[in-house]
Amino acid sequence: MTVTEPESTALPSTAEMNDSIRLIRDNADRIYQWNYTRERPQLVTLYNKAMASQWNSVTELDWSTNVDPEGLVDRSTPFMQIVIAAIDEPGSPIATWGDKEITQIGVENLKASLSQFMHGEQGAMMTAAKIVETVPWIDAKYYAATQTMDEARHTEVFARYLQEKMGDAYTMSPALEAQIVALLEDSRWDIAYLGMQIVIESLALAAFGDLLRRTTEPLLKKLLRYVISDEARHVAFGILSLQEYYENLTEAELFDRQEFMLENTIRNRNRSTNPEIWERMNVSVADVLPSLTSAAGRIGVHPYADFQKAFFSKLVPNTRKLGLLDANNGYLRKQWQEHGLMEFEFSDDTASDYDTYDAVAADRAAATNN
Ligand SMILES: [Fe+2]
Ligand SMILES: [Fe+2]
Repeated sequence: MTVTEPESTALPSTAEMNDSIRLIRDNADRIYQWNYTRERPQLVTLYNKAMASQWNSVTELDWSTNVDPEGLVDRSTPFMQIVIAAIDEPGSPIATWGDKEITQIGVENLKASLSQFMHGEQGAMMTAAKIVETVPWIDAKYYAATQTMDEARHTEVFARYLQEKMGDAYTMSPALEAQIVALLEDSRWDIAYLGMQIVIESLALAAFGDLLRRTTEPLLKKLLRYVISDEARHVAFGILSLQEYYENLTEAELFDRQEFMLENTIRNRNRSTNPEIWERMNVSVADVLPSLTSAAGRIGVHPYADFQKAFFSKLVPNTRKLGLLDANNGYLRKQWQEHGLMEFEFSDDTASDYDTYDAVAADRAAATNN
């Protein structure tokens, strides 16, 4: 396999990104732990697995693979179906669009998604590093250190894929930025876990899984399989740590965490249609939105239905394991019930099935057997 080193240009490379430093003040205390006794066997197991399944982004991915960005466009995604249908809406601002523009917006949409993955991964790297500093248990500090490395690799591979194969990247979406910055600022160490390992990593598993099922491009496929292997362990890390901690919180403290989950699910569902994509296509978002909404209704496609289903199938069972559904007389359970989330209560089990996601170990076992 030929290995090419990434070019030195920093990503995102456009002038709009030059003013790109964001200062964040963390309000959490750092904890130095003098007790080195390994007291949490499940975290020890997870840490050992994390060490064994580290992978090398330079030698284990074939960066010489030729990628045609237009060939990556999948017209069967809910987003693409809605865009294509919107062309025929009465008074549609994209009425003149043909094949060329459809492909172009498909490429832009994929770039936008991969860009948010990249920025989110950097946020995950910083959140994991915050956990190293703030969690009081030595086993959790060790594990979070391996996660910090995992997230560095994830950030790096998405950045490199965007730079070398897609050409450029988008800036971080304000919604994702606000979500991650809030975790980095919070004074309570468990909120970094709850927001990242439980909420955002469940989101990431759903989004990466969706793209992996759709893509046939071998480099992106392998990259996603390996990233997902790591993410599944990260979610398990969150559950194993918070389960123990939440057993000892008061109902009032648990109520704050239940509210946090509501903020991150039913109260915050307004995921926008990536306004920056439309800007690049020289179409005003305000103009195109009515056509998109009406087209979605006409063809009966909900833009985020599949995605939300995959997200809630991970999130709801994991929240149950933390005891957050039933604290305060089932406060969160009742709220989620009203919004139809409780049908996912027993869907997935990322606390214990992370081994089944380990494509890195599977590939290595297969290579040894051959
Ligand atoms: Fe990650
Ligand atoms: Fe992660």
